[in-house]
Amino acid sequence: MAKFRNRAFAALVSLAAVLFTAAPSSALAASSGVALQRAPVNLQDAVSLQRGAHLFVNYCMGCHSANYMRFNRLTDLGLTEEQIKEYLLFATDKVGSPMTIAMRPADAKEWMGKAPPDMTVIARSKRPDYIYTLLKSYYVDESRALGWNNLAYPNIGMPHPLWQLQGAAQLKVEEKQSHGHAVQVKSIAPGEPGLLNAVEYDRAVGDLVNYLVYMGEPWKVQSSRVGIVVMFFLAILLVFVYLLKLEFWRDIKH
Ligand code: HEC
Repeated sequence: MAKFRNRAFAALVSLAAVLFTAAPSSALAASSGVALQRAPVNLQDAVSLQRGAHLFVNYCMGCHSANYMRFNRLTDLGLTEEQIKEYLLFATDKVGSPMTIAMRPADAKEWMGKAPPDMTVIARSKRPDYIYTLLKSYYVDESRALGWNNLAYPNIGMPHPLWQLQGAAQLKVEEKQSHGHAVQVKSIAPGEPGLLNAVEYDRAVGDLVNYLVYMGEPWKVQSSRVGIVVMFFLAILLVFVYLLKLEFWRDIKH
């Protein structure tokens, strides 16, 4: 018995090892070849979604709209209308209005080369892991007009939107040997610190991406709640059906 258990355990460990080592290599960003990091998406975590909404309004809505998302939907996340008004709205917005911005796309294009896309469904079109990696891959690059470059999207038109939080990360280039060839491996190294340390910054970016995922499919929060109610209902129904079955068979047996 003990032997069997040991063997089963060993099999589980090797399966886990295969899964863990296979995951990062299969997740490469299409354009830049940088390995994607996994975004900690959890739509049940209302506090994370609230923090993400706050970051989105403060750091992204200067340029990006979310035209198909209304501020009052944020009550789904447990925020009251007062909190939305106090922490998230600009003076001119009403609680029921969509998350639009004042910048004209044509102006944005002139300033940054490209118009910032609407963010309502960005997590569905660009995938959460990519956006998470993108926001962690900025580095200082004096040769660029805006002073920033990005490993996940080289020469991106968007300047680092969270530089105050992350600080000014630097590019690190190492020479490594691979199959007898010298290859350059690029990574991000900490530079001048920002308001958050590395762990806090990762969490902030995680909350923000979590919110972007929520914004693309807000009904998911609701539908998983409905799912739980349905399962509960089915469980109770099962008890009654079983009792009914006993009742029917009692008459037949006697
Ligand atoms: C200063 C204006 C500005 C701010 C602030 C800003 N962005 Fe952007 N963003 C842009 C522009 C411009 C583009 C288009 C860049 C390009 O394709 O070269 C863009 C593109 C993007 C993209 C698409 C990248 C791709 O691969 O096509 C994502 C995702 C994104 N922004 C997320 C964010 C998030 C999240 C925030 C808030 C933390 C934010 N942006 C804040 C200007 C901005």
